Amino acid sequence: MDVLVIQPGFPAEIPYFVQGLAKSGVRVLGVGDQPAGLLPSAARESLAAYLHVPNLWDARKLIHALRSWDVPVKLDRVECLWEAAMELAAEVRAAFRLPGLSPAQTQLFRDKDLMRCALDEAGIRNPRHAKAETESQILEAAQHTGFPLIVKPIAGAGSLHTYRVDSLEELRELLPSLRGIEAVVVEEFIRGTEYTFDTVCAQGQILFHNVELYRPDMLTARSIESVCPQTISLRDLSASHFQRAKAMSQGVIEALGYPTGFTHMEWFHTPEDEVVFGEIAARPPGGNSGELMNRTCDFDVYRAWGEALLHGRIRQPIERKYNVAMIFKRARGQGRIRAITGLRETEARLGGALVRHELLMPGSRRRNWRQTLLSDGFVMLRHPDLETTLRLTDVVVERLQLHAG
Ligand SMILES: Nc1ncnc2c1ncn2[C@@H]1O[C@H](COP(=O)(O)OP(=O)(O)O)[C@@H](O)[C@H]1O
Ligand SMILES: [Mg+2]
Repeated sequence: MDVLVIQPGFPAEIPYFVQGLAKSGVRVLGVGDQPAGLLPSAARESLAAYLHVPNLWDARKLIHALRSWDVPVKLDRVECLWEAAMELAAEVRAAFRLPGLSPAQTQLFRDKDLMRCALDEAGIRNPRHAKAETESQILEAAQHTGFPLIVKPIAGAGSLHTYRVDSLEELRELLPSLRGIEAVVVEEFIRGTEYTFDTVCAQGQILFHNVELYRPDMLTARSIESVCPQTISLRDLSASHFQRAKAMSQGVIEALGYPTGFTHMEWFHTPEDEVVFGEIAARPPGGNSGELMNRTCDFDVYRAWGEALLHGRIRQPIERKYNVAMIFKRARGQGRIRAITGLRETEARLGGALVRHELLMPGSRRRNWRQTLLSDGFVMLRHPDLETTLRLTDVVVERLQLHAG
């Protein structure tokens, strides 16, 4: 099977997926705007051939370049794990008449209003919602959702320009800052615990799924700098709300006609014990979640993806063994990292539960926490018992500090 991967070297985690695909027995080809010499080695070593195009975003030119490529290719699939290039991948698929998401279907994953409307039709529990393009439409929508509500861009990502609004007064104050955004969705605010539901599918069936707990919810983590965001991949998914989330996710996959590959969903479990859908992306989650899944089950999810494409099933045994926590650290203060405190103590208290850490060294400039969940580094730990995992996670949150300025 010949699979073309669009932008195999970016974002940073994609080369691992490319590597897994090659390991599963697929012949992997790549096309992207990164010069071949700049591809990360994991991607470069896994590609049978790579086509460098100077402008990736012109679909017509890209299709022409692929058709006139001097490498003999007879593509079986086109894959793209980068949110920004989803539409482009769909256009290439359509031009080569390949299976996978079509351009029209891709819109259901990219436009939060179209997504919600399709899911309403299928009877999936979604927040009540309305699309709004003008200030008066936003105010009118608020009458139907009530407060608190959420306002977010229709084509949003990474919680950017996403706001919780608690009153009409607050909404009026917010309106001027929404002016640059073409269209928004106004939604009923769902209270509850937020989780992911991530899958590898073949022909619309879930072959593998994984759930991460967001601690705290993603919007809080993304909008308050002093928060220490954590994603915790859960070992035991036997509780009723996880079972119901699985049934809901399978329903979403069917309603949107998602065929084969990775999906990344988000959902809420409310204090009233209801499961409510958040959103879906037609790609794996970011934030090192591939590694979290691998360390949860001691398997290779990257390769499992290739097996799903190639054979329609996963050949590795899957056993959920650990809760795996990823703790993203943000330094106190601005500018350059000056010191790290509590590292020795944290390492000692985590003991064998510590998987690894990657922290910015003193002297490094702080990362922009608004742009990357990775922030100024992370600690990864794992333990079979959830309570112990959360306790050790709190040690990392409270005892380990990066100082800047
Ligand atoms: N209706 C809602 N109720 C409660 N929280 C929400 C709602 N919609 C979004 N959020 C919060 O905002 C975050 C970002 O919204 P989301 O729809 O996932 O967009 P994106 O991740 O593409 O920016 C979510 O992870 C969640 O924490
Ligand atoms: Mg989201």
